[in-house]
Formats: sequence, C-alpha cells, structure tokens
Amino acid sequence: MHILHVVGARPNFMKAAPVHRALGEKGHQQTLIHTGQHYDTQMSEVFFEQLAMPNPDENLNVGSESHAQQTAAIMSRFEPVVLERNPDLVLVYGDVNSTVAAALVCSKLGVRFGHVEAGLRSYDRGMPEEINRLVTDQLADLLFTPSADGNQNLLKEGIPAEKMYFVGNVMIDTLVQLLPQAEVVFHKLRGDLSLESFGLVTLHRPSNVDEESVFLPLLRVLDKLSEYLVLIFPVHPRTRARWSDHLKRCNRNIRIVDPMGYLEFLALQKHAQLVITDSGGIQEEATYLRVPCFTLRHNTERPVTVDVGTNLLIGNDWALLESEFKKTLDGHRRLGSVPPLWDGSASIRIAEVLSC
Ligand code: UD1
Repeated sequence: MHILHVVGARPNFMKAAPVHRALGEKGHQQTLIHTGQHYDTQMSEVFFEQLAMPNPDENLNVGSESHAQQTAAIMSRFEPVVLERNPDLVLVYGDVNSTVAAALVCSKLGVRFGHVEAGLRSYDRGMPEEINRLVTDQLADLLFTPSADGNQNLLKEGIPAEKMYFVGNVMIDTLVQLLPQAEVVFHKLRGDLSLESFGLVTLHRPSNVDEESVFLPLLRVLDKLSEYLVLIFPVHPRTRARWSDHLKRCNRNIRIVDPMGYLEFLALQKHAQLVITDSGGIQEEATYLRVPCFTLRHNTERPVTVDVGTNLLIGNDWALLESEFKKTLDGHRRLGSVPPLWDGSASIRIAEVLSC
C-alpha cells in the first residue's frame, strides 16, 4: 500500500516518526509531505534529525499567515500533490492547521485518510485546535485514538465504532525510544546551564501570551516563583517577538532560552521538579515521566492526564499555582500512573491495522 503522511508543525513530528518507521518495517511504500507551517530550524529541521525521520519528499512552504490564509494555502498546495502521487491512504496527525487542511483536501478528492490522535476534545471551541479536531474526525475514514475517552467522544458525535481503533499514544512511542539518548544529552546540558534543581516552563497559547493583561501578570508570578526554583523557559518565536523587552527584564532565575530540540527538551522534562505549561503534548509526556505538571488552561482535551496522571489544571488562578508549586517543592508530589496503551507500541498497532 502507498501511504502518504502529512506533517507541518512541531507537535506533528514526534507523532509521525514512529508510525513512519513501523509502516516501513511492514514494507509499505511511503511519502512524507511537510506543509512548512513551522519553518525555523529549531521548530522543524532539528526534529527530523533527532527523530531520524527521512527528509520530506516535498515541502509546501506555506509559512505563517492568519489561520484562514494558512489553512487555505495548505489546501491549494496539497491538492495537486495528492492528485499527482495518488496514495492509497493519507495519514494526518494531531490538531494543527496542517491536519485539518489535509483532511479537507482528502475528503473532497475522495481519498481515504486516517487521523492519528483522534477523539480528543477540550469542549472549548474558542481553541483553534478544537475546531481542527472536530472537523478532521468527522471526515476521517480511520480514527486512531490515544485513550479510551477519545472513543467515547467520537461515539457521542455519531462516528461509527467500526472506524475507530484504540491504539494508544504514538508520542509516547517516540519518548520511550529516545529516552536513553535524552539521558546522555542531559549530562551535557546540566553542565552547560549549571543546573541542580529546576522547573520547566512553556507557554505559547494565544490565550496566555497574546494579551498584555494576561501575559504580564503571568510573567510576574513566574518571576516570584523563580525565587524558590530556577525556571527554564524555552520561548516560542511568536512569544519572543511580542515580548522581548519584558522577557529581558526577568529575574535571573528565569532562564529564557530558544526553542529546544526534542532530545534536549525531553532531557530537561525528565529531570525537572515540575513543569508549568499550556501545551497539550507536554501534559502527556509529564504524565508518562511522572513529573508534576501545572497546566495554565481552564480545560484539557487530554483528561486522562488529570484523572490518572500528574496534571493539574490551574486556569489562571495564580494563587493556586503558587500554593501547588510550593507544595510540590515540599515533597507533596502527585506521581499518578501511566494510562493504558501508553507503552511504546502504539505505532506498531497502527501498522498492524493498516496491514490487515
Ligand atoms: C501551532 C499549532 C498548535 C501547536 C503549536 C506548537 C495550530 C492552529 N496551532 O501553533 O496547536 O501546539 O503549533 O508549536 O496549528 N513562527 C515562527 N517560526 C516557526 C513557526 C511559527 O516564528 O517556525 C511564528 C510566526 O510568527 C507565526 C506564529 O509563530 O505567525 C504562529 O505559528 P503557527 O504555526 O501559526 O501557530 P503556533 O502558535 O506555532
């Protein structure tokens, strides 16, 4: 079978890499298309190297635009690629604009496609990713879910059970595979950053970083918390561009650094005392690594990380963040457990489904 994978943004790469490998082992012909949604070396190229993914067969170079323009550009550039390459099946990943754009193209051309990481719902349609998830899942022919709540959400939306496969979490496949390499990287990083004990911060959601009335108070809270624990903050390019002056004035215990490669970030995450984030994937990785995770959002499309994992939803309750932060440093850590099928073999299960 000829399978065409579509990737575009940072969180896609670690999901596609193990699926590409598992399908390769089954002998399928494969094509890899990069939409170019993320284009900086540190947001894209470094992941291909570290994840040992082949270079994309084509890059659509769409770059950054408004959501509508970016989605439309991906669609108009992806359509001729599908027509020319004529795959038997397309695989799309996660919930970014590249995911929904490719899904729309496939369904309009009548080309079968599968969604890896289907069924996740935050029930917050103010998030662009929620719109992308809803539309992609309605159109997909095959839906590969990472957790049982995904199947329940899809059933509620009227999607037939026979299209769904609860395979587990492909992002954890990459984590399991690369953790030994990340440990090697950690020893060097620890020396370079002179680290003993530290926390890790990532923020990129427009709801946290776009408005002055939200971002500046948040930065002040982080400044205060960094008196108790050094905080390493790799900053997304958009956030850096918008707030560079304020970021420069942070307390020296907040280490503002460039976006990191996969191995470097995983290394720090594994050894952090705690993580403060608004990312989706980091909630999952922290759960697997059993590192306390404080999510600066009111909801999550990954409720299993709260129900059984280490994740706590903080919203924008900075008093709660401070008290939970201190409790964690005092040794009251919630270790949680690892959700079912987050075992490093989700992509093998996908390859088996597709090879029947
Ligand atoms: C996208 C995803 C989000 C994911 C995040 C991870 C959507 C709707 N959002 O958000 O789900 O969690 O990626 O990073 O698809 N930029 C650069 N260099 C890059 C890429 C982006 O400087 O390589 C800047 C540009 O100024 C751009 C902005 O980041 O305008 C936003 O990029 P975009 O891909 O549209 O969304 P993200 O915020 O990265």
